[in-house]
Amino acid sequence: MTDRSTPAQAYHGGPATFAFSEAYRKAAEKQIAKYPPGKQASAVKALLDLAMRQMEEETGARWLPRAAMDHVAAVLGMPPIRVYEVASFYSMFKTRPVGRYHLQVCTTTPCWLRGSDAVLAACRRAAGGVPDGTVSADGMFSVEEVECLGACVNAPILWVGDHYYEDLDGPATERILEALRRGEVPPPGSAIGRQGSAPEGVRTTLLDVPPPLPYRPEGAAPEPAEGG
Ligand code: FES
Repeated sequence: MTDRSTPAQAYHGGPATFAFSEAYRKAAEKQIAKYPPGKQASAVKALLDLAMRQMEEETGARWLPRAAMDHVAAVLGMPPIRVYEVASFYSMFKTRPVGRYHLQVCTTTPCWLRGSDAVLAACRRAAGGVPDGTVSADGMFSVEEVECLGACVNAPILWVGDHYYEDLDGPATERILEALRRGEVPPPGSAIGRQGSAPEGVRTTLLDVPPPLPYRPEGAAPEPAEGG
């Protein structure tokens, strides 16, 4: 049977009403001011992100109930359906309840080849084995498999809140999840201590020692004499 529910009817749960707090209203105005008059709808993604962050402050979970999307639509003078379309298109917006920590595990090929199965398994265990997309009984975790997060060089990647955890394996993932459960924010970045995306182990490129400054390529015309 065809599901004739509208996208709006498909969203449910969360508070019945939502409005930006004073601080978030000011932040929203700043975003709207970036666009010419009449083009304020261009700020929709920024405002949805602000709404998710306010939800996190107020409820402990970063997601978008329908009331928040309706408020964004009202602030921007947009038909609510246009806001639902944006929110349901971009995977960074969550239109279903998530846990306090929403664990997004990249399982695209580079991360999979580098061991994302173990990362995903650790996350699912931490969530008590509930189906992906639902919230653990204690409200702490929800799990989602996601596509490439644009950080393949540090694969495999776990994305939590505003942080990427990189170069993970099963035990490193478990340590991060235990820290989150204790209410700590583990330092983001590489779990194996490499700097950014620098190669593991010894350097194999950019080994030349640069010549002292000022550098003049061989055959370049000499510097003009001072005052000449
Ligand atoms: S494949 Fe995982 S970050 Fe690109």
